[in-house]
Amino acid sequence: MAKRVLITGAGSGIGLATARLLARRGYRVYGGVRKEADAQALAQEGITPIFLDVTQEGDLKRAREALGEGLYGVVANAGVAVAGPLELVPPAAFRQALEVNVLGAFATVKAFLPLLRQARGRVVLMGSVSGLVALPLMGPYAASKFALEALADALRVELAPFGVRVVLVEPGSVATPIWERSLRAAEAYLEPPPPGTEGVYGRYLDLARRMARRSAQRGLFPERVAEAVLRALESPNPKARYLVAHPARVRETLLLRLLPTPWRDRLLGRFLGV
Ligand SMILES: NC(=O)c1ccc[n+]([C@@H]2O[C@H](COP(=O)([O-])OP(=O)(O)OC[C@H]3O[C@@H](n4cnc5c(N)ncnc54)[C@H](OP(=O)(O)O)[C@@H]3O)[C@@H](O)[C@H]2O)c1
Repeated sequence: MAKRVLITGAGSGIGLATARLLARRGYRVYGGVRKEADAQALAQEGITPIFLDVTQEGDLKRAREALGEGLYGVVANAGVAVAGPLELVPPAAFRQALEVNVLGAFATVKAFLPLLRQARGRVVLMGSVSGLVALPLMGPYAASKFALEALADALRVELAPFGVRVVLVEPGSVATPIWERSLRAAEAYLEPPPPGTEGVYGRYLDLARRMARRSAQRGLFPERVAEAVLRALESPNPKARYLVAHPARVRETLLLRLLPTPWRDRLLGRFLGV
């Protein structure tokens, strides 16, 4: 019988690429969506859509009931990118990043754990390189992905006795709609710079827009990340973390993690143009 896997946020980007790859590899895939059009598109590709907003306990309960017994994998992929200079980010926007990216992933895993335990299955969490190095202008997003690293570390050890493996996938920039969405959302939520700070924040905002556009155009194909999810699900001995990024980005990330803080800050300050 085909192994069953649930992927949250399967209507676009990495979630969609993963759903397609797993379906091609013979899994019975359940794709979490929030829009009717996404549900129809998935159904046409042989992927079973499930209406699932990961911040809604009711949706999670209904999804668990719909899935019944035994589930081999949960890919907690749903996410949003909340970014911008921290002084201009309203707490409500920051809270949304944590609600979806951290608590949403936690609530998803918690809801399906009884089913995963039956199957001695796997949890795949969609982390990010932003969970390894917090770049300026990415504060809320990085905070959420750092939190996911902590969640993965705790969960991996706690679930080991049940034979449930926990894997974190950490992509670098990937060309998906997340960037355009985050730019559009930021236009709406970012507060105006306080008087006297317009010069600095204006420069930051320009840079943030350029960085987002560059990632949208030059990021990895989402299929690369889907392949890492497949490895996380299929490897007899999966790694705790799969870093999926351009080699230059991997080097940069490792360097920034190793550098003494004053050097790191100077380097990033230069990047910001300050
Ligand atoms: N793209 C990158 O460069 C990159 C890099 C590292 C990590 N990631 C991570 O990869 C994951 C997927 O992102 P993506 O790049 O593929 O972007 P995406 O195309 O925007 O996909 C995000 C998905 O999450 C869904 N989602 C958002 N809020 C949700 C909620 N409350 N409940 C359920 N689903 C929700 C979206 O559904 P709707 O369409 O209904 O909003 C969408 O399907 C995210 O966790 C992201 O942080 C992305």
